[in-house]
Amino acid sequence: MLSTPPLRRMRRLRSSEAMRDLLRESHISLIDLIHPIFIEEQLEQAMPIATLPGISRIPESHLADEVRELYALGIRYVMPFGISHTKDAAGSDTWDKNGLLARMINTIKSTVPEMMVIPDICFCEYTIHGHCGVMHHNEVDNDATVDNLVKQSVTAAKAGADMLAPSAMMDGQVKAIRQGLDDAGFQHVAILAHSAKFASAFYGPFRAAVDCELSGNRKGYQLDYANGRQALLEATLDEAEGADILMVKPGTPYLDVISRLRQETHLPIAAYQVGGEYAAIKFAALAGALDERAVVTETFTGLKRAGADLIVSYYTKQYAQWLAESK
Ligand code: PBG
Ligand code: ZN
Repeated sequence: MLSTPPLRRMRRLRSSEAMRDLLRESHISLIDLIHPIFIEEQLEQAMPIATLPGISRIPESHLADEVRELYALGIRYVMPFGISHTKDAAGSDTWDKNGLLARMINTIKSTVPEMMVIPDICFCEYTIHGHCGVMHHNEVDNDATVDNLVKQSVTAAKAGADMLAPSAMMDGQVKAIRQGLDDAGFQHVAILAHSAKFASAFYGPFRAAVDCELSGNRKGYQLDYANGRQALLEATLDEAEGADILMVKPGTPYLDVISRLRQETHLPIAAYQVGGEYAAIKFAALAGALDERAVVTETFTGLKRAGADLIVSYYTKQYAQWLAESK
């Protein structure tokens, strides 16, 4: 016996696997995970993305097969990103009813109607300058961009999108998109708002993945990563503007923001584990430095423990494959 016994023996709660299973507070399953996919027009065969090992650009002509495969693995939510060969100064292909965005949504919904489609709503993959909107005097013009975001949103809704994920970080974008959807008869289409989207170096691998033409940075519109209170203000505004789900992006370096937001809203919260987070784990795993499945599970669990209800991650398909293998 210890002469000074512990106040409480916490190890009782960890004493067996059954006990640990019983007391686990956060769980991960495929119904929490949204899978981003990269679709390129005029591409012949799948092209591996060097900055995101294990992830490829999928030719538009293979999209239907990919979606069938994902659905068979148990994946229920996809977030398509287009790799455009039809760029201009405004990103007008995004609101063309025959443009890449509309075609991707159409193909997914007509192949597997049960697959929920949540397109990213932005312009940077479709503009020749790589910015998330229309340029005016070397800055992104907020209000002109919002008008275009509304056009893009209505086009995406008409093509069959179930939920839209506006990511341009323009002021008033959620309000305008909600209004535009409602006016066009799409009251049922939900908005997953990129509410607290930080100007992050973790987006590097993604920009290479989508052939983004950006030479400068997005600090004039995305959040300064030093600012937690400002992030909460952004998210609170999106809630007031009619967002259905609030997203924090990137994920792991911003757990404090997720956790603080959890105290402030009753809306569902999403976390986006971005390309740089995927790459950091993947390259370390390829070097034999860590156990990939264990680390991915730990990061997902950390995001949920912080307060996220759902997670967007490039690891979704791999995670589904791991689950299938261990059945
Ligand atoms: C574009 C957009 C970005 C991401 C999703 N949508 C990048 C950016 O702002 O440059 C990042 C995704 C990732 O890094 O995985 N608005
Ligand atoms: Zn963008």
